[in-house]
Amino acid sequence: MKKMGIGILLLFVLLILGACGAKEETAAPADKNANEPEKEIVIDKELEEAKAKFEPLGEIPVPADNPMTEEKIELGKTLYFDPRLSGNNVQSCMSCHAPGAGYGDGMAKFIGFEGFNGPRNSPTIINSGYYPTNFWDGRAGSLEEQALGPIQSEVEMNQDLDELVIELNGVPTYVERFNTVFNDKISADNIAKAIAAFERTIVIADTAFDRYLQGEEDAISVDAKEGMKLFAGKAGCISCHAGPLLSDYNYHNLGMSGDEGRFAVTGNEEDKGKFRTSGLRGVAHTAPFMHDGSLETLNDVIAYYNEGGGKHPNKSVQMKPLNLTDKEINSLVAFLESMSGELPVVEKPEIPSN
Ligand code: HEC
Ligand code: HEC
Repeated sequence: MKKMGIGILLLFVLLILGACGAKEETAAPADKNANEPEKEIVIDKELEEAKAKFEPLGEIPVPADNPMTEEKIELGKTLYFDPRLSGNNVQSCMSCHAPGAGYGDGMAKFIGFEGFNGPRNSPTIINSGYYPTNFWDGRAGSLEEQALGPIQSEVEMNQDLDELVIELNGVPTYVERFNTVFNDKISADNIAKAIAAFERTIVIADTAFDRYLQGEEDAISVDAKEGMKLFAGKAGCISCHAGPLLSDYNYHNLGMSGDEGRFAVTGNEEDKGKFRTSGLRGVAHTAPFMHDGSLETLNDVIAYYNEGGGKHPNKSVQMKPLNLTDKEINSLVAFLESMSGELPVVEKPEIPSN
């Protein structure tokens, strides 16, 4: 009862404020129709409640032992594009995480060293510095730790780290630049730090969805607002895609078979087929989706959830048929698109010669 009283009072105050606003406008150009009805103030309670469940992304965390500097970021960017990082000097990080392909490779599964057919999808590196763990199964604890993985992986870049250090030492510009940035020699550690610093600049934070959270009412469409309600309500997405990155940083089994997932890290049976919840800002740029690249469009992803996922003995109990209509599926897609923002632009740097 008391709540309702306050509600009515609030409405009253709003109406008075509205009326005052209208009065001031009488001085404005005379083309306004004085008989036009007052615009109704409609408060969508469900939408307000949904909105309150989301958070802004905030600044990317930077480890104390790897501060960001202009020169370090530039050096990391150069290394990211340099095919010297692979054993046969063919592939660079860019080959599988290309700025023009949403910082993934646009393929379902990666093609690795000398044409090796990879078992997983190349994920985007957008916002990857926000996760406390990296890779689909979370086996790396930081971007620094992650970066040396693909370089040494026989099926990705197949490069020996000692050989890489020798190779880069043959490039005078690199010797000089590592010295300036780290006051130190070229080492695997410093290579990883520079690349990680560059990756922390590949961020999508300012999306229409974020501007909506900050109070810009028209930043997202009516459809996307319906999608937001479903995401936080009927469709249950927020039970996993929660928090600032829209990931609970946890691992779940959505019923996709054929890959051990998190089990490879923990050895626990119950982790078989579990993968880290993906953050969703920028998601419209990174098709195809999921660790196996099996879902081509955002519509396919939501249709998959709508069916309650696939079949797997470990499937999460949260994966149940959602009974979403086609219209609701489209609203969820519109909501995901509203959080997709713009791709960070990176020009290919000049690769120094020997
Ligand atoms: C041949 C393709 C290929 C190359 C080259 C490659 N990657 Fe990847 N990258 C992948 C794949 C596939 C995964 C996912 C592997 C997994 O989770 O098991 C991945 C995962 C990642 C992730 C984790 C993202 C997340 O969401 O946690 C980052 C960051 C990353 N790579 C950066 C790099 C960097 C830096 C380089 C260069 C040193 C590089 N990659 C080279 C294919 C590649
Ligand atoms: C039980 C937890 C859970 C629920 C509920 C859930 N997700 Fe996910 N989501 C995940 C996990 C885990 C992944 C990564 C799975 C993989 O790669 O195999 C993922 C991946 C995705 C991706 C693909 C991201 C990419 O880059 O490939 C999208 C899009 C997505 N979810 C949207 C949604 C939407 C929309 C809903 C609600 C209809 C939803 N999710 C419900 C856990 C969940």
